[in-house]
This record gives sequence, structure tokens and C-alpha cells, in this order.
Amino acid sequence: MIDDLPEGLMARHLADDDHLRVLAVLDTWWGGLKGEAGSTERALLLPRLYFQHFTTTSFLVERGGGEIAAFLVGLLSQAEPETAYVHFVGVDPALHGQGLGRALYRAFFTLARSNGRRYVHCITSPENTASRAFHTRLGFTASAVKPDYDGPGLDRVAFTIDLSAHPVATPSVY
Ligand SMILES: CC(C)(COP(=O)(O)OP(=O)(O)OC[C@H]1O[C@@H](n2cnc3c(N)ncnc32)[C@H](O)[C@@H]1OP(=O)(O)O)[C@@H](O)C(=O)NCCC(=O)NCCS
Repeated sequence: MIDDLPEGLMARHLADDDHLRVLAVLDTWWGGLKGEAGSTERALLLPRLYFQHFTTTSFLVERGGGEIAAFLVGLLSQAEPETAYVHFVGVDPALHGQGLGRALYRAFFTLARSNGRRYVHCITSPENTASRAFHTRLGFTASAVKPDYDGPGLDRVAFTIDLSAHPVATPSVY
């Protein structure tokens, strides 16, 4: 499913039972970004429906003992046949910088391509400098900050990548 993971990690699609386990790591993994408001915002961005109806386009990475190491919640756009979308991605801070985030995206790009998708979109908070650097490094183009994009006070930066402008995924790209 994901063939270039760091040793000792295994990937599978997301499942209903993963919902509360994933919610439990969000605040730690996001470093408490934006305080209590950020915590509420993150929890509300991941209702159970993603763990029921978007499982085949989402991935979970676990350690041998079953502890969550990373996840990516993605979907194929219902309205735009050339578009796929990464809704949420997180990597255990203890594993940052080892290519896990890149491996998750590479797997999602492969899945998107195999479903005829050319573009991948995602958004992030302007305050999330790690996410902005990561997506830029992967080849995404960033928009200017979009004020109130997700509601009053919820500014966002939007990212897009055109998969047709990149060679088919190999370990050295994305
Ligand atoms: C953003 C995140 C997913 C990156 O995961 P990761 O596994 O550490 O990233 P990778 O090791 O695959 O890095 C891929 C590239 O991005 C770069 N990168 C990753 N994090 C970076 C950071 N904080 N600053 C600058 N560059 C960064 C890496 O240097 C690497 O580039 P390189 O291959 O040229 O060296 C991780 O930091 C995370 O989970 N953050 C908290 C949750 C979050 O903000 N999610 C995104 C918004 S939904």
C-alpha cells in the first residue's frame, strides 16, 4: 500500500474504529497550535463520517504494537472529476523528518492518478508554518492567505499540485 515507509511501520486504510484514536493525538501532534480554539477546530474537522465514508482514500500508519504513527484523510472530489483533496494529515512528532509525510502524499498521489485525477488540493492555517513549508517542498503551489476562507476568523492558505507536471511517483519525487 505504501512501499517506502521507515522500518517497523505498516500502512492500511482508515477504519471506523480509528476515529477516537486519531482524535486523541491531534493536540499533541499539532503542538497545541492556536490554543483551545485550535483544539476545538481540529476535532470538528474530523467527524466520524471520514472514518466511515472516506476510508478507501485515507491511510493510517501504525507501529508494530498498533500505536498510531501517522494518518492521511483524503478524498476524490464528487464535483470535480480531475480533482482529489487531502483533508487532514498528521505525523507523530517523534517521527518527523523521516519522509513519512512525503510517503503518505506519494501514496495518495498514486491513488489519485489511478482514479483519473490530475490535481490535488489542500488547505492549511496561515499559522501552520511547518505545514506550509512541507507542502511547498512537495511541489504544491501556495495561494496568498485567504481571509475568512472557512468561516469568520478562519483564514486559510490553499495549495494545489498538478500531477501531470510531475513524473510518475518514485522515491525521489514529491
Ligand atoms: C507537516 C508534517 C505532516 C510533515 O511530516 P514529516 O513526515 O515530518 O515530513 P517529511 O519528513 O516527509 O518531509 C518532507 C519534506 O518537507 C520538509 N519539511 C517537513 N516539515 C518541515 C518543516 N517543519 N519545516 C521545513 N521543511 C519541512 C522536509 O524537510 C522534507 O523535505 P526534503 O525531503 O527536501 O528534506 C508534520 O510536520 C506534521 O504532522 N505536522 C503536524 C500536523 C500538521 O500540521 N499537518 C498539516 C496540516 S493538516
